Formats: sequence, C-alpha cells, structure tokens
Amino acid sequence: MVRKGSIVILDCGGQYAHLIGNRVRRLGAFSEIRVAETSAKELTGAAGIILSGGPQSVYEQGSPQIDPVIFDLGVPVLGICYGHQLIAHTLGGEVKPGKIKEYGHADITITQPQSPLFSGLPKMYGVWMSHGDEVKVLPAGFICTASSDTCNIASMWNEERRIFGVQFHLEVTHTQHGMEMLKRFVDLCKPAPWSIESYAKEIGRQIREEVKDRKVFMLVSGGVDSTVAFTLLNEVLGRGRVQGLLVDTGLMRKNEVVGIQEAFEPLQITNLRIEDASDEFFAALKGVYDPEEKRKRIGDLFLKVQKRVSEEMHLKVEDGWMLGQGTIYPDTIETGGTKHADHIKTHHNRVQAVQDMIDAGLVIEPLKDLYKDEVRKLGEELGLPHDLVWRHPFPGPGLGVRILCAEEPNLPKEKGSVAIPHLVLPVRSVGVQGDGRTYRHAVALFSASEDTFNVPHAFRSMATTIPNTVPAFNRVVFCTSHAEPPSIVFTPGAITRERADLLREADAVVHEELRRTDLYETVWQFPVVLLPFGTRDGGPASAKATVGRHSIVLRPVESQEAMTANAAALPATLIRRMTERILSIPGIDMVFLDLTSKPPGTIEWE
Ligand code: XMP
Repeated sequence: MVRKGSIVILDCGGQYAHLIGNRVRRLGAFSEIRVAETSAKELTGAAGIILSGGPQSVYEQGSPQIDPVIFDLGVPVLGICYGHQLIAHTLGGEVKPGKIKEYGHADITITQPQSPLFSGLPKMYGVWMSHGDEVKVLPAGFICTASSDTCNIASMWNEERRIFGVQFHLEVTHTQHGMEMLKRFVDLCKPAPWSIESYAKEIGRQIREEVKDRKVFMLVSGGVDSTVAFTLLNEVLGRGRVQGLLVDTGLMRKNEVVGIQEAFEPLQITNLRIEDASDEFFAALKGVYDPEEKRKRIGDLFLKVQKRVSEEMHLKVEDGWMLGQGTIYPDTIETGGTKHADHIKTHHNRVQAVQDMIDAGLVIEPLKDLYKDEVRKLGEELGLPHDLVWRHPFPGPGLGVRILCAEEPNLPKEKGSVAIPHLVLPVRSVGVQGDGRTYRHAVALFSASEDTFNVPHAFRSMATTIPNTVPAFNRVVFCTSHAEPPSIVFTPGAITRERADLLREADAVVHEELRRTDLYETVWQFPVVLLPFGTRDGGPASAKATVGRHSIVLRPVESQEAMTANAAALPATLIRRMTERILSIPGIDMVFLDLTSKPPGTIEWE
C-alpha cells in the first residue's frame, strides 16, 4: 500500500525517478517510488501518479510496462519522456523512432495554453529533451498541447481523464518553468500536505514503535546521514538507550573526529565511543592495489571492528540491542530496490550480513524515506551546526578511494593520438562508459599560456572528445602547476599512514580555500586525489619531503544525485590559490584539475 495522499512515481528505469521524487517533496507532497509494474490495487490511496523516463523503447521486449487499470483510479497521471510514450502505447496510440535522436535543448511552442500544465506560462520556451522514440499517433481522447521543431507531439493531454504526457524532462533544471509545470500537476492532485517538519514528528513515533523497549547500537561514520540519524535516535529514545561507535580508520579527513565530537557537545550527546583502529586498517591495506579489493578490505575490517567493540561492550541481541543505520532513500533504491533502477553499486548498508539482520527485524533506519536535502534540514532542526550538515558527501571508505597506488608505473599499450602537449598518467582510474565500468588511464593536458589558471575553453570540450575517440582514456585532466609535460618519477607502494597524512593536508587546504568563497554549497562534491608520482626535478618543497614524490588532482563536480556529474568550473584565482598552497606541501610536485564529466569518468577515481 502507498501512503494516503502521496504522489507515486512509477520507475521506468534510468536515473530520473529520484529527481522527480525529490522535486515533488519540495512542492509539499510526499512522494514514493515504486516499480513500473505495481498493480493499480496497490496504488489505491495515491493522490496522483507520475511515470518516469527510462532508457528503453516501449515496444522493446522486457521494457517496463504498467497496469492499464491505473488510468481508471480517477487520479491525475503524468508521463515524462518514456512515461509519456508508455501512456500512448498503453492507451492505443502509436510510438515510433523519431526523425532524429534528440538530446539537449529544444524550444517548445504551447499549442493549447488552456491545459492546466501550461496555464500562465509563456507561449514558447526552452526544455531539455533526451529521446530516440516519439509519440506519432495520439490515443483516443487526447489532444496535442505542445510541439517542437523536431517533435510534433511534445506534450499531450486528456482533459476528462486528467492524463498528461510530456516528451521533455520537466524535472531537470535545464528545462525552463520545469518546477512550475510540476507544481501545476501536483496541485491538481490535491495531495495530503507534507513537510519535513511535520514528518520529523511522525518519524519519532515510528522509531518508538519499531524499537519498542530495545536499545540501539549505531555506527557513526562522520558523514551527514549517520550523524543526523544518531542525533535523532538520541533525541527520541534518550541517551541511555543509544550507543554510538565511531571507528577511526585512519582514512578520515583532517580534524574530522574532533569536529564531530565538538558538534555533539552542546547537544549533550556523550554516548559516542571513538575506536582508533587506524593501525589495523593500514595493516590490512598493505600491498593492496586493486580498487575493488581495497574497498572490500576496508568494508570487511569495518564490520570486524564493529563486532569486536560491540562484544567488548556486551551489546548483544539477547540483551535487547539492535543496529541503527543512517541509510537514506536513494541508498535503498540504488542497490536495485526497484526493478528498473540501474544497479550502480552495492551500498555498504545493504551487504548480505546486514540484509539478513534487516529481514530479522534487528535494524532500524530512521532516515530511510528521506532525501539528502531533507536529512540536512532535519539535522539543522535537531540543532546540529549548519556547516556540518551541509558538508559534501564523503564515501564510506574515506580517503582510501582517493589514494591511488601501484607497484609500478602502468601505461596503456595503445596511446592513440592527442594533438597537443600531453602526458599519459601512469595510473588507472575507474569510469563509466556505455553500460559498464571501465578502469583506464587519464591523460593530462598542458597549456603554455600566461594565464595558466584559466582553463582553455577548448580543453573542456576535449575532455569529452578524447575519451570518446581514444579507447585507452576515460579521463582528462589539466595541469595547473606546469606549462609543459615534465619528466616524472614514480613512487611505488600501497596505502600508508604517511600517504594518508599527505592527502589529508592537501584536502584540508582545498576545503579551507573553497569555504572562503561562496562556492561551497554550489559545488556538489570536491574529491582531492593523491597520485603516486612527482617530477624528476622535484617541486618547490621537495627537499623536505620524506614520503616520496606525489601529485594531487582537484575534482570539483556539479551534480544532482551523483548519477551523472559535470566538472565544476572554478574561478582562476581560486585554482591559483589552491595550486600554490598544495605545491608548498613537502612531497607534492604537481597539481591537476579534472575536467571529466560522469560519464565517461566517475566522481571518485576508484
Ligand atoms: P562515483 O565515484 O561512483 O560516486 O561517481 C558517486 C557518489 O557516491 C560516492 N561514493 C560512495 N559513497 N560509499 C559511499 O558511501 C562508497 O563506497 C562510495 N563510493 C563512491 C561518491 O563520493 C559520490 O558522491
């Protein structure tokens, strides 16, 4: 059953469902994501239904389909892109490949301004399209309400049954008036009013019901989600019934552990045990170079330490203890919680051992229905500092995925041709190309222009063309420390405490500089990555270096939900400050700025 008065998004695949769900909540209605095939019966009580976009064709075998009875529920239905085509396909219209595949900007002309979706909006405006197929013949009872040059039926409407279809993605920010169109639809649904403030009270009730007279043991990672979840559990259940554990893996950011303790102090949260397990983690990572193997070792050791500490503290299930987790809504879906969502990665909150405990009713996840921005609002309401709850997301394995290591330099067999001065980096990084994961080389571009910190515009487009044309590369970076490729030296070895300290220092510099600007909250995330090579001549501070020669990559990105991302453009003055300060750290010789979007790169390098 769905929550009464909510708006349900039927997920037809791709990365769109969460974006729509999140937008609907911002408009004051609760949203839930369900698989496309959910039966109409299960949707009883919903105030409205949205069919999301998706990568397939409606007539393709195995593509997401819907229960046609949903159109008889009497609630408004909106189809977006694939959803729009699915409405036409299901109700007797016709869908066919369009003249051209259309990706990106298009101007639509509203032909029926009396449609509630467009009322009061301009007659013509820009939208964002991404489709190969289109609706060619309207189903009975529908009229066409908007057109573009390349897509005749850019929008359709059945007034009597309150069914709407739009070929464009109204949920993305590139579509003008997108939120206004969505608001008009949401208003038409007359959903039950919803806000994070009112929902917080309800979560409190849910926690008490689920926990009953038990107690909760919770791992606090230092990230926003687990910090907010722990604070909430403390507030609802009281300190005596909650115990927190923060495992210091040695792969945390500079002053991170102290920062968390300081944030908890004014809230009188003292039930957090800090376990310094850094020696164990560095020992487990000795001689490990493969990114997946690193993640596995870190994850396994994390569970082992947690088990040991909970045994030491006698936190047994038999004595009424259960596990708390800071899982949020997208984490539950990203791992295949709905049938058509692409499997991106298995979230560490959903590994088998934890799943078994969830099935046995031994896990509480108080934030499991919330989006990140809602978790942040809740955190502020609970009294956590603004800067802490608005921190950038940080991967569970911490700096472990940002310290690239290798036993020896690794270069591609085929170099392909890159027309300008460049350096192929002797390490590989993870990417996403087509449907799969890649593990390939990055290429660094150089510019001899006076104005080194202004990345040449042409380089930004090369960041797209090079990985598309040279199979050996999945990433393109720009060197901000050197005008031409220097001769480099490799520093072999795996993750060590010294390397972690070096990266911690550079990471702290970058974030300090970023916080001085007003860009911290517009840049979605800013990984700083350590590479195991430097220059033969050494950098300005190399004489004092005791850890070998290294380089740093700056990876600022803009993103909505981390499924796709663009390299964020930073002001030249900021790049200069960061580069100069990083070069003054002994052991770091070169600095690069990552220009790659996702795809073909991922946000993190591993
Ligand atoms: P990628 O690199 O796949 O990252 O583009 C997408 C987002 O997920 C974060 N990330 C992780 N978060 N555990 C996490 O909690 C992980 O193992 C992990 N790996 C990547 C990444 O920082 C970005 O926000």
